Amino acid sequence: MKNFYITTAIDYANGSPHLGHAYEKVLTDVIARYARMSGKSVKFLTGLDEHGQKVQQSAQKSGIEPSKFCDEQAEKFVSMCGLLEISNDDYIRTSQPRHKEVVRKILQDLFDKGEIYKAEYKGFYSARQEQFLQKKDMVDGKWPEIFGEVSEITESNYFFRLGKYQPWLVEYIKSHEDFIFPRFRAKQVIEFLKEPLNDLCISRPRDRLEWGIPLPFDENYVTYVWFDALVNYISAVGYGTEEFGKYWPADFHVIGKDILVPPHSVYWPIMLHAIGAEMPKSLLVHGWWLSSGEKMSKSLGNVVNPLELVDMFGADAFRYFLMREMNVGQDSDFSSDLFLTRYTSDLGNDLGNLLSRLLNMTQRYADSTVPSPDAPDGEPEITLKKQAADCAAEYFKLCDGMQFHIALERIFGLIRGINRYAELRAPWKLAKDESAEGKALLKTTLFTMAESLRISAVMLSPVMPAISGKICSHIGCELPKNFGNSLEWGETLSGKKVGDKVILFPRPAEK
Ligand code: ME8
Ligand code: MG
Repeated sequence: MKNFYITTAIDYANGSPHLGHAYEKVLTDVIARYARMSGKSVKFLTGLDEHGQKVQQSAQKSGIEPSKFCDEQAEKFVSMCGLLEISNDDYIRTSQPRHKEVVRKILQDLFDKGEIYKAEYKGFYSARQEQFLQKKDMVDGKWPEIFGEVSEITESNYFFRLGKYQPWLVEYIKSHEDFIFPRFRAKQVIEFLKEPLNDLCISRPRDRLEWGIPLPFDENYVTYVWFDALVNYISAVGYGTEEFGKYWPADFHVIGKDILVPPHSVYWPIMLHAIGAEMPKSLLVHGWWLSSGEKMSKSLGNVVNPLELVDMFGADAFRYFLMREMNVGQDSDFSSDLFLTRYTSDLGNDLGNLLSRLLNMTQRYADSTVPSPDAPDGEPEITLKKQAADCAAEYFKLCDGMQFHIALERIFGLIRGINRYAELRAPWKLAKDESAEGKALLKTTLFTMAESLRISAVMLSPVMPAISGKICSHIGCELPKNFGNSLEWGETLSGKKVGDKVILFPRPAEK
């Protein structure tokens, strides 16, 4: 069976992990976990984008070798994945030999086929920023101060024949509606492709940039940015070997909107087409986390450090917040107030208290054992059962359509429904009722609460794997590895011992 292959963008090694990186990994992880539970064999790749000018400069500033600098950065990014419970199967670093070999092989193939050529490039160059500029970078006819002295220089570089594939690409995007999600993003690509495409400069002279992959056909140059970074998606799964077909084409490349046009929607499809590889099935383009309406960025100083929140509230609460607030594809504003509200109301009051109450009552009224539902189903059981069934049916549709925020809203609707049910049935009153009917109803009530909570926990598990596991183990079951029929109402919980009282979402001060 072909694997369900899903990737994230690989993070630039020159910065520190931030909320945007965390979100992309959590989103991809939720899809990967959902796919595993749906019975797919999943390959989940993430990694680090190490080469380039900025990394070389940062390393220089710290007085260490770029490779050493990247080792340190990799540790930070990998450790973030661990703290966020990211279930990636592989972590690729572009400095690894397995990656460099594939990049060089592709470059050589394309060079041999005449798809890469050398040409002189004339342009304005800022030595201070080590960067080529365009006339449009001028302000009022002058180069801004930050560029220092700007001179017109001529440099030879290697170019990839991007332009000739333009008609093919336009046709491909127009005829493959599922290639870009959400769809409105495809329009932006088509818009971009209305202008003629220039060939892509893919090299930098080595005397300007040492920290890169040397071109196999001219060791005086290294390859530059996208021809290196994008290739990670295929170098990680054995491009050029038998293995490759087990993974490729990827099912999803999960990326942020800033790297759709042109890298992932223009360069990458054309590169793949030129080497004769299949297209990835889908680019899943998420929006940005903003802070007071602006993109978080290091230079703006409004970066939220995700690890502080994880440390205070736990990975699952953090994951819940990200998935609940972000409509995949749109932007979302981050605020600590909103986070705290979700934490205390949805998680603490609705879910955490439900489990506490259920455990408490099962301990007091049923000898810590989930009873069997003794009374025939009446109202309000019928309503709650129906709500659970409806929620489960909708769940798959919503998750398949990437509408995780709505799926979570519905699950929490169900959870609130269980709380309402408990209020209606009032087990604490039933416990005082000595009649056979009262006793039977009490059993049915405790069972119904446990079973509907179990179904909720299973549905929550791609987003909150640890919390869901904890809920299941406390009500006497295990989190299933596969959805199977686990979202169907059943009686497997009857007779199971429940665990001791537990606080799922402590207030931060109580920690
Ligand atoms: O772009 N909100 O790396 P990167 C949401 N190395 N997502 C955000 C974000 C924010 N505020 N800020 C960044 C690169 N991201 C390249 C990718 S892939 C072959 C090479 C997302 O560290 C961003 O959109 O700048 C991207 O998908 C990912 O984080 C890594 O960004
Ligand atoms: Mg970026």
